[in-house]
Amino acid sequence: MDGFELLWIGRLILVLQLIPGVLGWGKEGHYVICKIAEAYLSEDASVAVKALLPDRAEGDLASVCSWPDEIRHHFHWRWSGPLHYVDTPDFRCNYEYCRDCHDYAGRKDMCVTGAIYNYTMQLMSAYNGSNSEVKYNLTEALMFLSHFVGDVHQPLHVGFIGDEGGNTITVRWYRRKTNLHHVWDNMIIESAKKTFYDSDLSNMIESIQKNITVGWSDDILLWESCALGQTVCPDPYASESINLACKFAYRNATPGSTLKDDYFLSRLPVVEKRLAQSGIRLAATLNRIFAARSSIAQE
Ligand code: ADE
Ligand code: ZN
Ligand code: ZN
Repeated sequence: MDGFELLWIGRLILVLQLIPGVLGWGKEGHYVICKIAEAYLSEDASVAVKALLPDRAEGDLASVCSWPDEIRHHFHWRWSGPLHYVDTPDFRCNYEYCRDCHDYAGRKDMCVTGAIYNYTMQLMSAYNGSNSEVKYNLTEALMFLSHFVGDVHQPLHVGFIGDEGGNTITVRWYRRKTNLHHVWDNMIIESAKKTFYDSDLSNMIESIQKNITVGWSDDILLWESCALGQTVCPDPYASESINLACKFAYRNATPGSTLKDDYFLSRLPVVEKRLAQSGIRLAATLNRIFAARSSIAQE
């Protein structure tokens, strides 16, 4: 290959990276969520998570939390695409598992909340079941669960079916042409990082962590608890998301509109709170999954 061809391949890669995909929170959103979760893991959960992580993660859960987005377009993993979101009928600002959790072909449970139940069950059955035979790839289960708990907190991952959660709503983010879904996956976080955090994601993570311990400390117990001793409870998270989608994401973001300071500054607090909630809830879920066995053994 000569230098000229390499230059074109480089440009092609750059262009492909700029095409907004229908991914979850962007890479940075998932990284923030899993970094926050890591800090709230119990000792038991932390040991179990480290044992399940692939070698390339080098013990860091956050480094593999975007893996389901990286593989979803590969032929082998195409079935996992519908697991990143759940859509409601157009203009319905509530969510119901039985009505909404299916893929385009109508297959039940093929949605983000169904996936969260499924991967939690896989990890639970291996760590807390009576049968010692492991039927699932638990490394994949952990990476999928960590990713999807993040996705279900992105308001437009529980959006309207007709606009694919804002993917077909073309808008401008300041001067850049994009779509509403991408604004919520990436642009708000990216603009915040540049404007308020000196272009350094770890400053943003630190600021959210400080908010959790100061501003939201009274809310943590409410955020992390599930009804009736359930191990995991994605349904209320999805209800919150479609509510926020109606109140904040879709509002004043009609096709062709230009979103700038007033939209950015009023929506950023929503994004930061959702990142915090998903981190806390992911940690609480993993703590419940990896604590049950030891509590039985101690009896
Ligand atoms: N495709 C269809 N609906 C979607 C959503 N809410 N989020 C991401 N991708 C989608
Ligand atoms: Zn997305
Ligand atoms: Zn996703």
